[in-house]
Amino acid sequence: MKPISLTGIKPTGNPHIGNYFGMYKPAIALTEKYLGLYFVADLHALTTTPDRKELQHLIHEVAAVWLALGLDPDNSVFFRQSSIPEIPECAWILACLTSKGLMNRAHAYKAAVDKNLEAERDPDDGINMGLYNYPVLMAADILLYGSDVVPVGPDQKQHIEITRDIAENFNRTYGKTLKLPEGLFPPDLQDVPGIDGRKMSKSYGNTIPIFADENTMRKQVMRIVTDSRTPEEPKNPDGDNLFQIFRLFATPERTEEVRQHYLAGGLGYGTLKQELSDTILAYFDDARQKFNDYMQDTTALDAILERGAEKARDIAIPVLKRMRKAVGIDR
Ligand code: TRP
Repeated sequence: MKPISLTGIKPTGNPHIGNYFGMYKPAIALTEKYLGLYFVADLHALTTTPDRKELQHLIHEVAAVWLALGLDPDNSVFFRQSSIPEIPECAWILACLTSKGLMNRAHAYKAAVDKNLEAERDPDDGINMGLYNYPVLMAADILLYGSDVVPVGPDQKQHIEITRDIAENFNRTYGKTLKLPEGLFPPDLQDVPGIDGRKMSKSYGNTIPIFADENTMRKQVMRIVTDSRTPEEPKNPDGDNLFQIFRLFATPERTEEVRQHYLAGGLGYGTLKQELSDTILAYFDDARQKFNDYMQDTTALDAILERGAEKARDIAIPVLKRMRKAVGIDR
């Protein structure tokens, strides 16, 4: 049996090429070594009480994105968190072993409290119990499947530590029942630069979206900031944003040719931007087709997710059984 890797995906839309190289691609590659569990964290999404229609759309969208970008549902376990009734029960059992003080120290909750204090409001103003319990639900997500590794971004480090704390506490109290997971943080993964040269991020508004229509894509690429050297002047490829993005998509041979062209002079940024647009469009052509197909047929998408949920429950049910037994509510 392969070790288990598990990750939860918040339903947000409009992935960009920074997400692709920083998250989707490495996460999907894990299915070579691990049994990969991937789920849409729709229960977690409720902590922000989103609009119902919008949430339903985002759940389908994020599922379509993962499948379109290469996640193979037959070679992984791809499902919705809310399809697993064992999750909330597991979360409750864990909550009863989690000190309130530990939750008070969770970053997201603390940040919300600090914001209130700054605005001279009640410390817990607008904070629901879902946000407060978020780390316990996440611990349930991880521990219920006996996950070995959890690939996540550095922002999730504390959540992994809390999960391990909760599992250790459970094992100390009731005897060894739960597996302690390891966080799998991308080893100094190079950030993809955005069109303005800062790290590509939705919050900076400097992204190149993967599934945008052709015109939007071309427009964003034309807006990549470069220096003001004329085509004739020699340029430094390593300091150039456009080149850093280009090399992610071009073949090694083409990348080397373009590098030499930078150094020798005679390369116009505008021409290279056109080539980059063409290259990105071709790179994601299949994915775009698949994405559109899935969004046209959400029934098929739901069926894939439900099949995944069955596989996930096969793993979860025995673990919950052991937990129930350990705490004394089995029969
Ligand atoms: N909190 C994670 C995020 O914000 C999403 C998530 C929910 C998750 N449950 C998880 C990630 C379990 C890894 C494992 O991205």
